[in-house]
Amino acid sequence: MEGSSSSIIILPAHSHHIRSIKRIISYYAKQEMMLERSVAELEHHIDEYFVALINNKVVGCMGLSKPTAGLSEIKSVAIDSDYQGLGIGVKLLQYCEAQAIERNYKTLFALTYIPTYFTRVGWRIITKELLPHKIWNDCMQCPKYYNCTEIAVCKDLTEEKL
Ligand SMILES: CC(C)(COP(=O)(O)OP(=O)(O)OC[C@H]1O[C@@H](n2cnc3c(N)ncnc32)[C@H](O)[C@@H]1OP(=O)(O)O)[C@@H](O)C(=O)NCCC(=O)NCCS
Repeated sequence: MEGSSSSIIILPAHSHHIRSIKRIISYYAKQEMMLERSVAELEHHIDEYFVALINNKVVGCMGLSKPTAGLSEIKSVAIDSDYQGLGIGVKLLQYCEAQAIERNYKTLFALTYIPTYFTRVGWRIITKELLPHKIWNDCMQCPKYYNCTEIAVCKDLTEEKL
C-alpha cells in the first residue's frame, strides 16, 4: 500500500477510469458483496460515478444515482482492498453527499451490509420496505433478490442546508 489519506484526490469519474472502476467492483462482486456493473453500464452512467485517486491510481469508487421517486442511491461503494481503513471510504461518501446537495437532490439511500460505515456520518437505518418499489431496479439483477440481507440506510440532505 502506498499513500496516505492526505494524498487522496476525489473527482467525478471520467471514461478513462472505467477499467479501474470495473476492476475494483468486480473484485467484490465475485464475493457477492455488491452488484457487478458492466463496462457498458459504467460508460452509460459515468456521470454518476466518482473516484478516489492516490498518485493517479484509482483506489476507490462510488456511484450517486439520479433521483427516482425523490430518492438518490449511493451505489457501487468500493475501496481497493489494499487501501481500506485509511478514511478513503468516508471521504468519498462525504464528497458524494456534497455533490448531491449541489445537484439539489433531497434524500439519499443505500442498501448495505455495513450500516456503521454510513451511520457514523449521520445516516440512519430505515425499514427496507419503506423504500418505494420504483427504486428496486438494481435489485432485480441481484442473485440474492429472494434472500436479501442488506440493510437500508438513508440521509435527508435538506437538513444540511439549515
Ligand atoms: C466499506 C468500505 C467502503 C469502507 O471504506 P474504507 O475506506 O475502508 O473505510 P474508512 O477508512 O473510511 O472507514 C470508515 C468507517 O467505516 C466503518 N467500516 C469500514 N469498513 C468496515 C467493515 N468492514 N465493517 C464494519 N465497519 C466498517 C468503520 O466505522 C470506519 O470507521 P472507524 O475506522 O472510525 O471505525 C470498504 O471497506 C470497502 O470497499 N469494502 C468492501 C466493499 C463493500 O462492502 N462495499 C459496500 C459497502 S456499502
